Amino acid sequence: MDTFCRKNRWALFLVFSFSLFQSTFAHSSLKDRMEFLGSFFKDPYKIGSITPSSVYLAKEITKSIEENKNDRKLRILEVGAGTGVFTEAVIKNLGDSNYVFDVIEIDENLSLLLKKNFEKEIENGKVNIICSSILDWNPEYSYDYIVSGLPFNYFDCEAVKEILNKYESMINNGGLISYFEYFGMSKLKPYFLRGDRKKDFLEMLSIICEFKEKFQVEAKFVFRNILPAVVYHLKGKEDDPNKKICYNEPASSNESNNKEINLKEQNVREGCKEEF
Ligand SMILES: C[S@@+](CC[C@H](N)C(=O)[O-])C[C@H]1O[C@@H](n2cnc3c(N)ncnc32)[C@H](O)[C@@H]1O
Repeated sequence: MDTFCRKNRWALFLVFSFSLFQSTFAHSSLKDRMEFLGSFFKDPYKIGSITPSSVYLAKEITKSIEENKNDRKLRILEVGAGTGVFTEAVIKNLGDSNYVFDVIEIDENLSLLLKKNFEKEIENGKVNIICSSILDWNPEYSYDYIVSGLPFNYFDCEAVKEILNKYESMINNGGLISYFEYFGMSKLKPYFLRGDRKKDFLEMLSIICEFKEKFQVEAKFVFRNILPAVVYHLKGKEDDPNKKICYNEPASSNESNNKEINLKEQNVREGCKEEF
């Protein structure tokens, strides 16, 4: 046992720290976390995280809903709900007020879990759990709030472009879009990518930058999450007749060369005023 401990002390240290971190910051039940982990192993790029977000992140990403609730019936959309950490925070924030809350989750198992976790709210007609990709969701109404839990940093540029266009077409004038990114991911990831993958990632970052520039942006750092994250709150203009925007097509792959990649990297760093 002694030799085993000495040989594997780093592994044991990591497992111990991770468990400690988990129990401190995670909020979901063990069963929910195991379900989430199972979905991660099936499709890591779609899920984008090994564990659901913490209550602290949920509190920050949903805070404006509580601050701005009023007598008018609110329409709220959550995209990529996972096990429902943000869903629960939204429902708690809204209390007895008048609202309709659409919750989109692409993963079938996680959608079933959400339906079980929010059975009561579904029954009283305020919450709809929809198992679908956000790209296939076409409601006849728009929303006052969009809470996005999607892992943009793992998606390709084309998908991010479509999703952001969709968000923009679905948000009411003056509405609020909140989403999060893992801290430092956008700065670190390019160092681990090469060629077309790096080019696609940088293109994706510049699309997000361009999107943020259309809104008033508030960014908040949340340490208590696995991994620490930055929450972005984007507020649309009150009266914007040209709300819908279209992004430029990404350059074709044969235009790819290192010079272009370096230039894009520089543009992303300089062009997008990142608070973190
Ligand atoms: C990083 S997890 C976040 C889960 C949860 N919001 C949280 O913070 O714990 C991203 C979630 O988005 C879902 N997802 C990924 N792509 C999606 C898409 N195109 N439409 C809807 N949901 C999607 C995944 O299945 C996953 O549950």
